[in-house]
Amino acid sequence: MLNNYDNIAKYYDFLSRAVFFKSQVNAQTYALKRIAKHSHILIVGGGTGWILEEITKIHSSGLSIVYLEISLKMIELSMARDCGANEVVFVNEGIEDFSALERFDIICTPFLFDNFSQQRADLIWVKLNGMLRTSGLWLFTDFNLERQGGKWWKQFLLKSMYAFFKLLKIVEASALPDTKSNFEQFNYLKLEERHFYGSFIQSAIYQKYL
Ligand SMILES: C[S@@+](CC[C@H](N)C(=O)[O-])C[C@H]1O[C@@H](n2cnc3c(N)ncnc32)[C@H](O)[C@@H]1O
Repeated sequence: MLNNYDNIAKYYDFLSRAVFFKSQVNAQTYALKRIAKHSHILIVGGGTGWILEEITKIHSSGLSIVYLEISLKMIELSMARDCGANEVVFVNEGIEDFSALERFDIICTPFLFDNFSQQRADLIWVKLNGMLRTSGLWLFTDFNLERQGGKWWKQFLLKSMYAFFKLLKIVEASALPDTKSNFEQFNYLKLEERHFYGSFIQSAIYQKYL
């Protein structure tokens, strides 16, 4: 299955820390402070589920979370996490096939979009936009090449990562899709933004305006 991390689920966190130290973790946890009590949250591509424990450190109860992962191995690892008294529904499905009657207060897409070709990224972005309520927050974390400085090593690292994942036949994309244009086109407000790992990683908190 496309972009399914089953084959490396057990090693994913180790690999992430080996290359990025704690930057991928810090970039994601940075945005979690924005989660309000009793929020209804959709996490897409949460990986091994450590983010659930970080969220639980902030709110040990009262949240209702839908944890959507295309990888069954990632779901199994995530189900073993301590989520306190929060309600977590684990869904082993791709976002492409997922449907929800309700709208979410918060949507998290941590290092999800870098997996997709531009065409699929656009479709998925529009789908997620439809699932977020007006004034809801989109916690967006991903790689980013926009910032000046260190362009060559960022390009090199990105290309190496895509080559590695291509070798394992995991990731469809060969370049980062542009998601910034979608947020702008749909009039999202960027409430906060911080960069990590020499600005190669971006954590942005967007608010849906319309
Ligand atoms: C790069 S990993 C990031 C994992 C985690 N967010 C982290 O930072 O540790 C991307 C994750 O997205 C999941 N994924 C990829 N495509 C997906 C899709 N279409 N729907 C849901 N999950 C997807 C993969 O299985 C993988 O666990």
